[in-house]
Amino acid sequence: MDWSVLFQHPAWVLSTALLAFVVRLQRRGSWDPKACSAVLSGKTAIVTGANTGIGKFIALDFARRGAHVILACRSESRGTAAVKEIREKTGNSNVHLRLVDVSSLDSVSEFSKKILEEEKALHILVNNAAVSGLPKQMTKDGLDMSFATNHLGPFLLTNQLLDLVKHSAPARIVNVSSMNHKKGQVDFSHFHGENLNYSLDEVYNHTKLHNIICTNELARRLQGTGVTANSVNPGIVMTEVMRHYPLFFRCLFNLIGLFFFKSSEEGAVSPIYCAVAEEMEGITGKYVDSDCSLKLPAPLARDPALAVKDFEICERLTSKL
Ligand SMILES: NC(=O)c1ccc[n+]([C@@H]2O[C@H](COP(=O)([O-])OP(=O)(O)OC[C@H]3O[C@@H](n4cnc5c(N)ncnc54)[C@H](OP(=O)(O)O)[C@@H]3O)[C@@H](O)[C@H]2O)c1
Ligand SMILES: *[C@@H]1O[C@H](CO)[C@@H](O)[C@H](O)[C@H]1NC(C)=O
Ligand SMILES: *[C@@H]1O[C@H](CO)[C@@H](O)[C@H](O)[C@H]1NC(C)=O
Ligand SMILES: *[C@@H]1O[C@H](CO)[C@@H](O)[C@H](O)[C@H]1NC(C)=O
Repeated sequence: MDWSVLFQHPAWVLSTALLAFVVRLQRRGSWDPKACSAVLSGKTAIVTGANTGIGKFIALDFARRGAHVILACRSESRGTAAVKEIREKTGNSNVHLRLVDVSSLDSVSEFSKKILEEEKALHILVNNAAVSGLPKQMTKDGLDMSFATNHLGPFLLTNQLLDLVKHSAPARIVNVSSMNHKKGQVDFSHFHGENLNYSLDEVYNHTKLHNIICTNELARRLQGTGVTANSVNPGIVMTEVMRHYPLFFRCLFNLIGLFFFKSSEEGAVSPIYCAVAEEMEGITGKYVDSDCSLKLPAPLARDPALAVKDFEICERLTSKL
């Protein structure tokens, strides 16, 4: 391999190193789930994309606390393996797999229908499943695949389960976003795959911005219901998130990550904080950073008029079934 390629982009290498250093600092001193005594027995939790990465460790933590945990995954084999692993590690047999492809509105609706039939309560919903670095691809619903997976599918899922969540109050909705939302923009033609560049994570950045915008609008609509909705940044985490990138970038990510980035277990800490910590009781419409502190998200994520519009457009796009 020709390593000189690394030094052809000194700015990139430098900023990555700097970023890594900052992230490393953030790994220390954050909230410790093991020191949190919150118990979830009698509570039901759903975690999407829970067969690997951050989602698996979120589900594992909930299972340790005695919750009835539903892993919402798209692959039967990967999902079953995770259920088995979590049951073995926690001794909690009340961990189950339900299949859903969050990029498909039909699949989401089928999943929600089943959950509404089977479950009497839903106290915690973690929208964690997402993709990054996908090439241009459209779903059968006429939506851009990345937007459908990261935003519109989870948006529909949340709305369809909302009454159940409200009946279970106090309850919490946690949406895993990313600091990448700061580079995102809002252009509603993006939902249909228009005016998009599929490079440098642009699409991913947009989707993560919409997550926060709609979470905030949802939080506003949920005022007084005992249901909170927050967005969270897990930090930079070594997961399979880079799976759609070229081998070179994956190796580089993992090499740097070995020293600086969070493990999946560490990445799960801020989402778990939002879902179970006493400190987050009653807190809603906030953006929680990777060190579990409340931060202001980017200005676009704080524009209430934009949020109303975004939410309504997403409702229209997902209700045409
Ligand atoms: N890793 C980071 O540095 C980082 C930074 C900021 C934010 N995040 C956020 O953290 C969350 C978790 O990401 P991760 O890093 O743990 O990524 P990951 O290891 O790639 O895991 C993603 C999970 O989402 C699932 N998923 C993807 N598309 C799906 C679909 N259409 N239907 C159902 N499930 C689907 C995957 O299932 P399969 O295994 O079947 O593909 C997998 O379980 C994401 O919201 C991501 O945006 C990650
Ligand atoms: C978070 O919830 C909002 C509101 O329901 C939704 O629009 C958004 O897609 C969700 N985010 C994720 C990551 O699923
Ligand atoms: C895509 O990126 C190119 C080069 O960075 C830029 O000139 C162009 O305006 C972008 N297109 C869109 C639709 O954002
Ligand atoms: C997406 O966000 C990342 C992280 O902030 C940034 O490095 C990248 O340049 C952004 N992409 C675009 C197209 O803005």
